Amino acid sequence: MITFDGVTKRYADGTVAVDDLSLEAPTGEITVLVGPSGCGKTTSLRMINRMIDATEGRVLIDGVDVRTVDPPTLRRGIGYVIQQAGLFPHRKIVDNVATVPHLLGWDRRKARARAMELLERVGLDPGLAGRYPFQLSGGQQQRVGVARALAADPPVLLMDEPFSAVDPVVRASLQEELLRLQAEFTKTIVFVTHDIDEAVKLGDRVAVLRVGGRMAQLADPATLLARPADDFVAEFLGRDRGIRRLSFVSGEGLRLRTDLTAPASAEVSSVRGTAAPWLAVVDADDRPLGWVRVGELPESGTLADVRLAPYGTFVRGRDSLRGALDATLLSPSGNAIAVDDSGRVRGVLTRETLEEALRQAAGGAGGARA
Ligand SMILES: Nc1ncnc2c1ncn2[C@@H]1O[C@H](COP(=O)(O)OP(=O)(O)OP(=O)(O)O)[C@@H](O)[C@H]1O
Ligand SMILES: [Mg+2]
Repeated sequence: MITFDGVTKRYADGTVAVDDLSLEAPTGEITVLVGPSGCGKTTSLRMINRMIDATEGRVLIDGVDVRTVDPPTLRRGIGYVIQQAGLFPHRKIVDNVATVPHLLGWDRRKARARAMELLERVGLDPGLAGRYPFQLSGGQQQRVGVARALAADPPVLLMDEPFSAVDPVVRASLQEELLRLQAEFTKTIVFVTHDIDEAVKLGDRVAVLRVGGRMAQLADPATLLARPADDFVAEFLGRDRGIRRLSFVSGEGLRLRTDLTAPASAEVSSVRGTAAPWLAVVDADDRPLGWVRVGELPESGTLADVRLAPYGTFVRGRDSLRGALDATLLSPSGNAIAVDDSGRVRGVLTRETLEEALRQAAGGAGGARA
């Protein structure tokens, strides 16, 4: 666990970058520091690995004041990832990743083997190992940065806006990757961002800081979105926090209709009497094919002959209410198709049921994390 205990940082020119910050970043969790530019995020992060020393108060790792540990020893247990990866431009990718193991005295072959393994773990083609950083895309460089930080298997990982220099699509995949890696390696991560979406996606807990380095709120994402502590936090979360919150409300309990699906092999005549306006057509393996409008069915033939409207799916038991909402928006029927992990249809979520669930979610705060 990393503890900030009444920490203040006053720079030589008198700027108070961090003001009496107290905070715990629990072991094995991702704690996100989020806030506007200049609110002291980077300063706070660097006080953990002593690139900056606090003016007042203490930073502790597992109860040990970092000021009592000499910086090189301290940093051996702390991986550090920054924006644009900060790779050594004149070293090959594999050597960039092997830097720390090498410093730790591993022999060259072992360090390189470790580097190759890590490149694969962060989703990079090992074929890139012999390239130089400038020969990689921004997203690939960021992955190398993460691999390098993990190379010595440090218990603590500090990440300072590591994904902010890449486009939104790459950024989303890097975020997914980080969550996947975290499930595998379980580090104590302190992650800095000024992007609230990134904060609520990645954080087990989120600390919102205001300029002047003061804590505005520390909470898990669902609580933060449901109950912002004050106007500053509410403003920072933005007007669409209601939608964001849905990501933290489970879709598990949503009532599904099982009478609104029909196999593609069904005769048109056999489904014409259906009371509902739309039917979901499934293949012989119960996988979704699309929607048919009951009122527009042809005279004869099977459903396989009918032109189908597009559909959206969500995974029952895994996707949040947000996922279910998105799925309904992908279909002109306004209904979503619920599937299981293997992609087989479990039932249909109607717009009416979804709207009822959305109203309930707006009333209460809770719900499982997505
Ligand atoms: N070496 C320094 N000397 C004086 N003031 C500094 C120094 N480094 C940072 N500051 C100031 O301290 C405050 C906090 O800076 P810091 O870099 O920690 O903010 P940040 O939250 O990381 O901002 P950003 O989102 O822009 O990266 C800012 O007002 C900054 O100008
Ligand atoms: Mg910063």
